[in-house]
Amino acid sequence: MNKIAVIGSLNMDIVVSAERAPKTGETIHGQKVQYVTGGKGANQAVAVKKLGGNVQLYGMVGKDVFGQSILHQLSEFGISTESIGISQTETGVANIVHLPDDNSIIVIPGANGELDSGWLTAYESEIADADVLLMQLEIPVKTVDFAMNLAVRHGVKTILNPAPARQLPEHLLRLADFVTPNQTELETLLGIQITDNHSLAEAMQIWEKQYRNRLIVTLGEQGAAWLEHGELVIVPAARVPNVLDTTGAGDCFNAGLAYGISKDWHLAELIQFAVTAASLSVTKFGAQAGMPSCEEVFALLK
Ligand code: RIB
Ligand code: NA
Repeated sequence: MNKIAVIGSLNMDIVVSAERAPKTGETIHGQKVQYVTGGKGANQAVAVKKLGGNVQLYGMVGKDVFGQSILHQLSEFGISTESIGISQTETGVANIVHLPDDNSIIVIPGANGELDSGWLTAYESEIADADVLLMQLEIPVKTVDFAMNLAVRHGVKTILNPAPARQLPEHLLRLADFVTPNQTELETLLGIQITDNHSLAEAMQIWEKQYRNRLIVTLGEQGAAWLEHGELVIVPAARVPNVLDTTGAGDCFNAGLAYGISKDWHLAELIQFAVTAASLSVTKFGAQAGMPSCEEVFALLK
């Protein structure tokens, strides 16, 4: 089966649920706190696995209880922990405020910040052998750059999910075959404000002229956008009965994309698949628990 390599972050998500976010300086009562495994890299790997893909995850945790439970949880999902390094630095943590229809996150990279090209070198031939490489920005950009170059040299298809938002060197953006920002991330990358579909289309056209790769923009509850022969196409999110937790929806989208690319599906088809998978993921609590199976996605697509 075609191989998908995911290089990225593993976090312990400390999720505090509340009716609303506190104002600055304010203290409010929340409903509960839950500790669930997360991190964009791990979430994407779990989502690929649940879809039925062949995935290998490369990442770093700390020598602590959070690291232990992350490794345990990965094994539960049937993901090999052989390429997860153990660092002296503490495991990455995400402080998530989970509101009825949205969330906000503060990430402390911890061990994810120790994932460097030196460590990755041991897995060079494995990564070179993958069909698709999927990466995000919760590990050092230098490492992303190294791995992206490695993949391109070996003809591995690359997806860069530029999240969380930050500016990136142009050469790095050119290396990716697919770039998958949300609207805010696209604004940060291009330095252009997007206010409506018209300015979105314009920004995307500028992008594709400049970088000559495939840009797919996630639009939250609206779905995702791409350019078909230069024209904006919005693939709407699927209607789902209840939105419980949007954490990890973007990760699910990227996993769906990687899965479809590894199967050589047509672009329109794989974007539709990814959007539908992401729509399903928000119906369950937790980033990883909500990732759907291939059958569930196809059932909703019918
Ligand atoms: O994309 C969602 C993820 O972002 C969460 O699981 C959290 O760990 C943060 O990294
Ligand atoms: Na979810």
